[in-house]
Amino acid sequence: MKVRKALIPAAGLGTRMLPETKTVPKEMLPIVDKPAIQYVVEEAVESGIEEILILTNRSKAVMEDYFDYHPELESKLRNAGRIAEADMLRKVADMAHITFMRQKQTLGLGHAVLCARRFAGDEPFAVLLGDDIMKNGPPVTAQLIRAAEKYNCSAVGARHVPLDVIHKYCSLRYEDVPGEEKIKRLLAAIEKPRPEQVYTDFAILGRYVFTPGIFDVLENQMPGYGGEIQLTDAIDGLARREKVMAVDFDGRRFDTGSMTGYLETVLEYALESPKTGKWLRDYILKKAEEFEK
Ligand code: UTP
Repeated sequence: MKVRKALIPAAGLGTRMLPETKTVPKEMLPIVDKPAIQYVVEEAVESGIEEILILTNRSKAVMEDYFDYHPELESKLRNAGRIAEADMLRKVADMAHITFMRQKQTLGLGHAVLCARRFAGDEPFAVLLGDDIMKNGPPVTAQLIRAAEKYNCSAVGARHVPLDVIHKYCSLRYEDVPGEEKIKRLLAAIEKPRPEQVYTDFAILGRYVFTPGIFDVLENQMPGYGGEIQLTDAIDGLARREKVMAVDFDGRRFDTGSMTGYLETVLEYALESPKTGKWLRDYILKKAEEFEK
């Protein structure tokens, strides 16, 4: 099994970030000096992905422009001797082989994945949510690909989350795999569980590798939580048909699609950036002194 393709679903309506996301996709919000989706594309490329499909919608065309050439701007920069900046713009556009497709109706993440059926064909493929950024550790998608290739099956990225917030995620039932500490066999999954439905504190977070078997499940998947076609429900169905592994991945996940998650992400990256790190640290310390007064 070799995973060469990846889908980045980025067609959601971003209602948690309104009114900003009415016209600017949340995936294009800046995390210091790069849009969130660039970090996601970089993770895919670093994981060995060769072809990427980004799923968009009618108000998100700006993402296509971002990964295109901008000859006028580039030549202006070159003529002004700003070669490094011009090269940087070119590098972004040449970073990966990316195609775009529109999800014509926002029917849910499960439906978004089903839209990639022709793109994936009969190959396994990765899914990286366009508003989730993974930081630290080896690329999370690469960690999943390793597990998927080792066991020749689907693999999802999972972490233990505090039980008092599990209702915001999904909850997994799983069993141990002999000789593995970080890899569990997924037995069942439930999206946004009510307290009595919680299996464990183990939840899927933003990264997946699927065999094409997921499409057969998704094709018949009824709408679930929130009236949307839920990917978690399809994963639950897939786990009953074939092997699915849940990988307790190394790294920290940032959800840039919520207001506090977005601000947390910006602060983390800005503190580490050579451009802004020192300035922000001094600013925070100054603010902390003011709070203490
Ligand atoms: P989210 O639930 O985080 O995104 O979906 P959303 O629906 O845009 O957010 P809110 O709740 O309204 O604020 C996870 C990922 O799946 C994509 C989103 O763009 C996001 O990257 N998605 C979701 C689709 O591509 N299509 C859909 O129909 C739903």
